Amino acid sequence: MEKYYLTTAIDYVNGAPHIGHAYEKILTDIISRHYTQRCDDVFFLTGTDEHGIKIQKTAASKGVTPKELCDENSQKFKDAWKALDIDYTKFIRTTDDYHEKAVQNIFNKLLEKGDIYKHSYEGLYCSGCECFLNPKDLTEDGLCPDHQKKPDVVSEENYFFKLTKYKDAIIKHIKEHPDFIMPAFRANEVLNQLEDIQDISVSRAKSNVQWGIDVLNDSDQSIYVWIDALSNYITALGYDTKNNSEDFKKYWPVDVHVIGKDILKFHSIYWPAFLMALDLPLPKHIFAHGWITIDESKMSKSLGNVISPTSVLENFNLEYPDAFRYYMASSAPSGRDGNYSDEDFKEKVNAHLANSMGNLLNRTLSMLVKYFDGEVKPEFKSENPLAKKALGTVQIVKNHFDSFEIAEASQEIIQLVDATNKYVQDNAPWTLAKEEKMVECGQVLTNVLDIMCIISALIYPYCPNIAGDMAKQLSFDLKTKLDDITANSVKIGKLISKEDIKPVFLRVDSELADKSAKK
Ligand code: ME8
Ligand code: MG
Repeated sequence: MEKYYLTTAIDYVNGAPHIGHAYEKILTDIISRHYTQRCDDVFFLTGTDEHGIKIQKTAASKGVTPKELCDENSQKFKDAWKALDIDYTKFIRTTDDYHEKAVQNIFNKLLEKGDIYKHSYEGLYCSGCECFLNPKDLTEDGLCPDHQKKPDVVSEENYFFKLTKYKDAIIKHIKEHPDFIMPAFRANEVLNQLEDIQDISVSRAKSNVQWGIDVLNDSDQSIYVWIDALSNYITALGYDTKNNSEDFKKYWPVDVHVIGKDILKFHSIYWPAFLMALDLPLPKHIFAHGWITIDESKMSKSLGNVISPTSVLENFNLEYPDAFRYYMASSAPSGRDGNYSDEDFKEKVNAHLANSMGNLLNRTLSMLVKYFDGEVKPEFKSENPLAKKALGTVQIVKNHFDSFEIAEASQEIIQLVDATNKYVQDNAPWTLAKEEKMVECGQVLTNVLDIMCIISALIYPYCPNIAGDMAKQLSFDLKTKLDDITANSVKIGKLISKEDIKPVFLRVDSELADKSAKK
């Protein structure tokens, strides 16, 4: 594997980030960190989507300019990702100069090619979706099914993109590449949507939408959001239709676009068509994750149940974002919806991270100090009955990541932790010590510590800080590539002193948690 390029959706900045946005960035960061353990050159792109009628309206209602609203809210996303240790390579804003210029050039290239044409149109526009809706997709009451809002009747002369020209080629691509849309169960949905696609409007009249990128040489029209938004994936690499930048040549095509299921149509129909029109290769994978609900209801401003990612860290008084990252990432099977609840959060992270994983390391190191003054003696290295399972788990975890099964991979890691705990229970090193079978006792402890090195590497993408603390106490180098990991990483000699042993994760405080549940 030479390079790995991955992206998130870019979030609309008409509000602050919530844990649904966070879910996607956490998943992508975990995938990014995992591939960093397999390849030297990972490029992770995220950012914010800043044009469109929704942002124009929100800004107007607050009495600020659209740009002021974008600056303020884009920063909130950046701050949240910092708090969650989202380690992106680049953050793009669609109001960035280079992006706006490149989008104008892309639009013009398609216009020159004849794939964009001008056309008078009347349609039903949903500003929540930022797109025209097909009347047959509305609810019985004539509302947008996603936003429960009546769409506006819009009559304009707009530019249109010849989506229909690419219909057959896209159907063929999807059928020939079963791993293009992931999870695979979503591909049929897209094939059904392709049945009745029409050419799409790619601009809006300036009289209706001022907050957008101008069409070059036609200042009455602004480029409508999807061509602007989707192009971020290539403009961020320096693509601008003329000179292909070094980064573009190196990283395109993208390995995976991580997005929510609600915008799969735009990514698996519109985007491939735009790319085909630009004569560019298509993404390798599009991974559509499910949606996060709160206590089993949809998050919405009207229900007042929108949770910000940082409020979870604050309510539970978490020093690191690791527990929240772990919980979110393991909250739903690949591509399915997940749920957040304070109670479940507490229960799961206490069980997995504190009781199972954290305690295992803590107990084992404490026994090594108690019985052997923290020293691993040469005769403690022996046949490790857990080695096969642990190295097998590394392989299984890699396979899960290749299919974007992030929760499934985390379950495998916890199973390895459980198996290691069982090994300690079954072999009772404290009894061996009592019986003065010191070599056997040291062997059991060393076997466990060797497996803990593997566990720290596997848990690292989910819990980078906890993994760092584990690796430090094990003197294990977390930069070790997954393929170079052995079940023999713990070095012979003095490993640790009593004062350097510290719990890697403290149980989430139930009193604090109760307080947040009442909010
Ligand atoms: O759609 N659970 O922006 P957006 C999980 N700007 N994911 C959620 C979620 C939830 N409750 N709510 C939102 C846009 N998301 C466009 C994208 S990409 C070129 C342009 C996800 O702010 C959603 O599925 O509405 C999407 O992937 C991302 O957050 C941004 O949503
Ligand atoms: Mg949305």
